Order: sequence, then C-alpha cells, then structure tokens
Amino acid sequence: MLSVFISLVSLPPMQQKPIIIFDSGVGGLSIYQEIRAKLPFMPVIYCSDNEGFPYGPKPENDVIDRTLHCLTRLVVKFQPALAIIACNTASTVSLPRARQLLDIPVVGVVPAIKPASQRSKKRIIGLLATPGTVARDYTDQLIHEFAKDCEVIKVGSTELVHLTEQHLRGETINPDDLKKIIEPLFSGNNWPDCIVLGCTHFPLIRGLLDSIVPAPVTWVDSGEAIARRVASLLQTLHSHHEEPEHRFFYTGSDKSVTPLLPTLAAMNFSEITRLK
Ligand code: DGL
Repeated sequence: MLSVFISLVSLPPMQQKPIIIFDSGVGGLSIYQEIRAKLPFMPVIYCSDNEGFPYGPKPENDVIDRTLHCLTRLVVKFQPALAIIACNTASTVSLPRARQLLDIPVVGVVPAIKPASQRSKKRIIGLLATPGTVARDYTDQLIHEFAKDCEVIKVGSTELVHLTEQHLRGETINPDDLKKIIEPLFSGNNWPDCIVLGCTHFPLIRGLLDSIVPAPVTWVDSGEAIARRVASLLQTLHSHHEEPEHRFFYTGSDKSVTPLLPTLAAMNFSEITRLK
C-alpha cells in the first residue's frame, strides 16, 4: 500500500549538491562537456578566475594562492559534493594543499602522459601545455613513471591559451599562428605519433589543431578519464530526468565575459555572474 502511495505522489526532487569546476579561464569547459556527457543529472558551478588569467606564466606560489583562495570561497558558498581543479597548471602544484584544506573530494587534471605512452607506437610523444605545466616537477615525475622509454617533446605556449579564449569568443584563428606554435613538435627527424593536450583549453580547439598538423597524430587528453573518476567518487544514482541548472561564475571583469555569452548559452549555462 505504502509503495503505491509513494509512486502516486510526486515528491519534490532531492536537492542535488553541485560539482565545482574551476579554471583560470574557459579551459575547464572541456571538462564540463565530459561531465555533462557522463553525469547529465549533476548541476555544475563553473568558476573562471579571469582576474588571475593566465596562470601559465605565473610563479607557482601565485597559482597555488589563487587556486586555494577561489576554491575555499566556492566551497563555502555552494557546499558542493566535489570540486575539480580543471586546470593542469594549477593541479600540478595545488592538489595536495587543496585536498588538505577542503573536506570534500578534490579531483585534479594533469597531463595524460600514461594513456599517451600506452598508445604511442613510435615511442615519441608531444606534450602541448602551458609554460608552467611543461616546467613542473610533477610533469617530469609523470614522464619518469609512465613514459620512461619514450622521447617526450614539450612545448609550452601561453599564446595557444589566448587563441583558444579568442576562438570561444567567436574570433577567427589564423592557422599560421597555430602552425608556428606546434612547429617545435615537428622540427626534428622523428615526429610524435601521439600529442598530449596538457592544458584544458586545448581540447576545445582539437579540430583546428588536427587540421594543421603535418602528419596524422592521436590527440590525448584527460577529460573522459576525469569524468569517469568523478562518477566513481560520487556513485550517484541517476534520479533526475530534467537537465539540472548549470551556473557560470567569474572573478574579474565583465568585459572579458560578454563576448563569451553566446558560447555559454549554447552550453546550457542558465546564470552567468561575477562571483561575490
Ligand atoms: N587551462 C589551464 C590549464 O589546463 C591553464 C591556462 C592558463 O591560465 O594559462 O593549464
């Protein structure tokens, strides 16, 4: 009798705690897309620290301070189920501290060296990331642990981060600018067959990159693996049928966000506000 009663009464859906996705700019949107595909019922609070953008050329301590400061504010304000540092530049230096500081699971995004090593037949891997990420000890440790027998050609570029930001604002990217950036990957006699997109911005322009490489390559990034990891940590049952509310916050000027509005609307963000 009771079960009949429950099935007839429309109970209000339990408030689902959101997932925080944090990045300096729009790069974390590549992770957001994977999260939406894997966990379509989870509400997302996206935060771009556009006041501190770009993180790539910043000293490590500045990146750590900004990341911890923003995450703490977000956790206090939104009481999330989990936070993703959707930025390789920040994750490679701030993860241990963020996990110590916050009492929720914190997932970091780091360069996908291991899957690239598993896929590279030539044992030559390219790493396209920010200047910060290519210089990190953490990145060297990943290479040492998972790709010891590979040659890893590293290219750090802040310009590519800026070009991605422009692309998402509807601006046209000159293919020659992209060619110049990736040139060092193909300057020697041995070209990589796998390229790690070790910055969350870059999967957002994978198609453009693919159209200008001089030889076919396999592009590898961490997005899908991150969504799988989040799903296993949350072990949430799919209980809602409607698309939840996704909200986009930023820390700096409105001016840099205005040209992003069409992209953010197309990605189903229902609110776009400065973080207060
Ligand atoms: N999207 C970020 C990353 O994955 C960094 C971009 C930047 O602010 O330099 O490293």
